[in-house]
Amino acid sequence: MKSLQADILHGDCLNVLRRFPDEKFDLVVTSPPYADRRTNTYGGIKPERYVEWFLPRAGEFKRVLKKTGSFVLNIKEKVESGERHTYVLDLILALREQGWLWTEEYVWHKRNCHPGKWPNRFRDAWERCLHFTREHHFKMNQEAVMVPMGDWKEKRLRSLGKNDIIRFNSQVGSGFGKNIANWKDRDLAFPSNVLHFATECGNKKHSAAFPKALPEWFIKLFTDPGDWVLDPFAGSGTTCVVAQELGRNSVGIDKIEEYIELARREVIENPISMFEKPSKYNGRSKKTL
Ligand SMILES: C[S@@+](CC[C@H](N)C(=O)[O-])C[C@H]1O[C@@H](n2cnc3c(N)ncnc32)[C@H](O)[C@@H]1O
Repeated sequence: MKSLQADILHGDCLNVLRRFPDEKFDLVVTSPPYADRRTNTYGGIKPERYVEWFLPRAGEFKRVLKKTGSFVLNIKEKVESGERHTYVLDLILALREQGWLWTEEYVWHKRNCHPGKWPNRFRDAWERCLHFTREHHFKMNQEAVMVPMGDWKEKRLRSLGKNDIIRFNSQVGSGFGKNIANWKDRDLAFPSNVLHFATECGNKKHSAAFPKALPEWFIKLFTDPGDWVLDPFAGSGTTCVVAQELGRNSVGIDKIEEYIELARREVIENPISMFEKPSKYNGRSKKTL
């Protein structure tokens, strides 16, 4: 059986990725530094320079991504002088010009977002997970992320109307239709594009780590066991840890040495969970790293 790899590499992802061949990866899933005026943060990229900074890196992500692959970008614009900055919107347009398809936008709803009071808005409880692809046809394992039907099933499917037992085409001319009766005897449904994950606070030594559930959902959806996952802004290595747990190969890159050490400890020296939940690993044995 082929062994899995999990490499944590130090440097600017722009330079590190130049060592990789074209079309190596099946999925790029990442949360880059958000635009920030504070030069002492690990990003320190000013909002008005963000697109210019991001594009050459995105060019490398595109080169190393397979044609059937996906690029998931977790990002959120900040408030500046009382209004949302538009740099994420500008980035989406620039990425499309670079040749990416803006295939979907998933909303990460932060279930445990802390309460607060602001004069002109409410607490910010969501972030974008922008889904870009190279082609219209890409790998997508929809069954891998199905969810329980939920309580609505009993009420909605108890008495079906005449438009529920036939394929009922959308009345807004979208070309889509649905047959509600098809779902009557099923326990699982496809999820929506709103993902409800709690933020994880606590044990990590990285201030901006995302919860494991986030890369886990996209890795299951867009890759198969043995595929290659890249996180070019790896931080504490969350993506690589999850990739490892799910039996995928991974590469994580970060420009800060301290995070590299943290990620290497998480990914390579702490593969304990692989033994704790063997069913998650799709029958693969412990890999050599
Ligand atoms: C939002 S954090 C990622 C956190 C990560 N998702 C986790 O769960 O720990 C962004 C990371 O990008 C890194 N970074 C910033 N610029 C970089 C660059 N040019 N190349 C590689 N890493 C970079 C920062 O050091 C930081 O750790």
